[in-house]
Amino acid sequence: MNRLDWISQAGKPLRGSVQIPGDKSVSHRALMLSSIADGTSRIRGFLEGEDTRATAAVLSQLGVRIETPSPGERVVHGVGLHGLRGSAQLLDCGNAGTGMRLLTGLLAGQAFDSSLVGDESLSKRPMRRVTDPLTTMGARIDSNEGLPPLKVRGGQSLHGIRYELPVASAQVKSALLLAGLYASGKTEVIEPHPTRDYTERMLSAFGWPIRFSPGHATLEGGHALRATDVDVPADFSSAAFFLVAASIVPGSELRLPAVGLNPRRTGLLQALRLMGAAITVEHERSAGGEPVGDLVVRHAPLHGIELPEALVPDMIDEFPALFIAAAVANGSTIIRGAAELRVKESDRISTMATGLRSLGALIEETPDGAIIHGGKLGSGTVETDLDHRIAMSFAIAGLVAGGPVRINDCTHVATSFPGFLELANGCGFALQAAP
Ligand code: S3P
Repeated sequence: MNRLDWISQAGKPLRGSVQIPGDKSVSHRALMLSSIADGTSRIRGFLEGEDTRATAAVLSQLGVRIETPSPGERVVHGVGLHGLRGSAQLLDCGNAGTGMRLLTGLLAGQAFDSSLVGDESLSKRPMRRVTDPLTTMGARIDSNEGLPPLKVRGGQSLHGIRYELPVASAQVKSALLLAGLYASGKTEVIEPHPTRDYTERMLSAFGWPIRFSPGHATLEGGHALRATDVDVPADFSSAAFFLVAASIVPGSELRLPAVGLNPRRTGLLQALRLMGAAITVEHERSAGGEPVGDLVVRHAPLHGIELPEALVPDMIDEFPALFIAAAVANGSTIIRGAAELRVKESDRISTMATGLRSLGALIEETPDGAIIHGGKLGSGTVETDLDHRIAMSFAIAGLVAGGPVRINDCTHVATSFPGFLELANGCGFALQAAP
């Protein structure tokens, strides 16, 4: 893959309406559940990102026919719970932690062996958090000392367990629930903090009996999934970059239509409002069983806050964007209880702190967070560490920096937000590929 660097600089006030692409978490799950359902499901608003396409390619390798009638649409011909076929080839999850962890749960209960691999970034991400509890359920999974690649052995008989997650993780919860479909008895998952509940909601929509409440889910094996159409809302995590950008660029006003507002995703909305942001939600409604609404964001002076720790799991992917807001806010922002950021697509505490320092910001790193002293950002060069959200966050920083910000290695933006550069420039960014 050719390296792509960006240069971001001050543009115009951000104006207009931005159609944010589909939700990554929902797109992954819609593919997986429709693949093992009986019948044909149509997914609308599907995220055409590299992560979700990698999951589609893996499921095709496992014998599922997936059609693309138009961009953002998939028709999945489900093969039923026991209809997947083994592949002798490696199953490449690309950059996608969600893809690999959920597929590991799904594949643990199959009759055949599978080998899951990922790219350079995914190959450094911890997998014991899924392989350990899956092993307790009777799965056999080999890893590279807890890291990918993973070899999932087929033909094991799984049994349900009651598992209290040591860290809040929707991926771990979902992997266990997917394995639980193939297990005898009851699989019960308890979280230290509630996390996004798309797997639970979607299993229910596909007709699988499941009991769930925030932080708790229980299901039993031995049922079937019925094909169901899925409408994917716009991804709040992608909207986040525009929420921060319009908040910090004077004169801005942006409208972001039909964004998913599942409360387990919208912690950043609350955090930005605590900082003084002017964001309103219009036309709140339900689409495909999920709350959605149009977000309207106007420029407002931001001030530093002590981020309530309870918000952390509800904004776990939005910290890179929050770091930028905090770095240009009036006063200091204190973040605690966010050690999980160190095992995302990059170590996001360290990558953001290093990048912000290159732009002249004053920031103290702590093991589970940071203290960010707001001020002015200058020109400079930052590294993304192969992390899509770091790249997009520094694109925002460039809008308010004293000079151009060069962002090295932005190729991975296509994993979650294809077309970001065009959409951003369409509303007033001055973002270009570096020569
Ligand atoms: C996701 C869960 C979160 C999040 C990731 C998507 C999901 O990861 O960071 O981007 O779709 O379940 P963790 O489960 O590791 O917190």
